[in-house]
Amino acid sequence: MKHLLKLSDLSSDEIISILNLADQLKYERKNGIEHPLLKGKTLGMIFQKSSTRTRVSFETGMYQLGGNALFLSSRDLQIGRGEPAQDTARVLSRYLDAIMIRTFDQSEVESLAEYGSIPIINGLTDYCHPCQVLADLMTIREYKHSFKDLKLTFIGDGNNMANSLMVGCIKMGMSVAIACPEDYQPDAALMKWAAENGNFTCTPNVPEAAKDADVLYTDVWASMGQEGEATKRQRAFEGYQVNETVMAAAHADAIVQHCLPAHRGEEITAEVFEAHANEIFDEAENRLHAQKAVLVKLLAEK
Ligand code: CP
Ligand code: NVA
Repeated sequence: MKHLLKLSDLSSDEIISILNLADQLKYERKNGIEHPLLKGKTLGMIFQKSSTRTRVSFETGMYQLGGNALFLSSRDLQIGRGEPAQDTARVLSRYLDAIMIRTFDQSEVESLAEYGSIPIINGLTDYCHPCQVLADLMTIREYKHSFKDLKLTFIGDGNNMANSLMVGCIKMGMSVAIACPEDYQPDAALMKWAAENGNFTCTPNVPEAAKDADVLYTDVWASMGQEGEATKRQRAFEGYQVNETVMAAAHADAIVQHCLPAHRGEEITAEVFEAHANEIFDEAENRLHAQKAVLVKLLAEK
């Protein structure tokens, strides 16, 4: 593995290997076993959008691995004034050991990888969020012990989260159902791939999608960059909510996952969120462990 640009670039075995290492690093961390595998290495973190979890988990993860992390806001970098990603990649490759970038266009992440000479990690684009889904898969396996015969249902916008979840869960052999309005479906090419490679459905019918789910997943109706569409989206997504009715259609022991931040009363009710808060915050914690595994794979296991 040279980069983490999107999950479709990784084989199922590569994903499992990251998850196994993440479990090991989590166990070591909880038991006070130091693992300074990235001593002397520096990760640059470029943010063109806001972040709580991604920023703090990457920064903390690098410190726990014995390395350093630099927070690089696009407001302060020349990239924010139009310096091309191609040039930024070649310059930063001379100083850093890896770059994590959160931005809008997937093409910008791919450009950094093409022009730079160091590993690039996608910390979220409009197209996908691979780091989040690695943490999600880690959490699902913690709660359910294996991926075998599991069904994940995603309710809401066919956005970056839906795109990455489809790919990650199908690669792990899970069934995936997406419930979304017809105008807000996930990426067409990824849906085609999912249907050809596993058990995948996409429907506007929420109860049908939620039936017999083992994992219920949702995300905000308006993602970063779509704030201007918030009112229109509130109307379009009415009913696309993880609530008691949806939970009743799922298996009795279904878990709830949310990448966060959550909007209670929109994509999830406050009651369901609080009833499943342990699962959701374990998922948030696992960002740290899963990303440390990615960093070790990219920077120490070469
Ligand atoms: N889930 C997630 O990526 O959170 P942040 O936007 O806070 O990084
Ligand atoms: N779909 C959301 C995910 C946030 C982690 C967004 O892109 O804003």
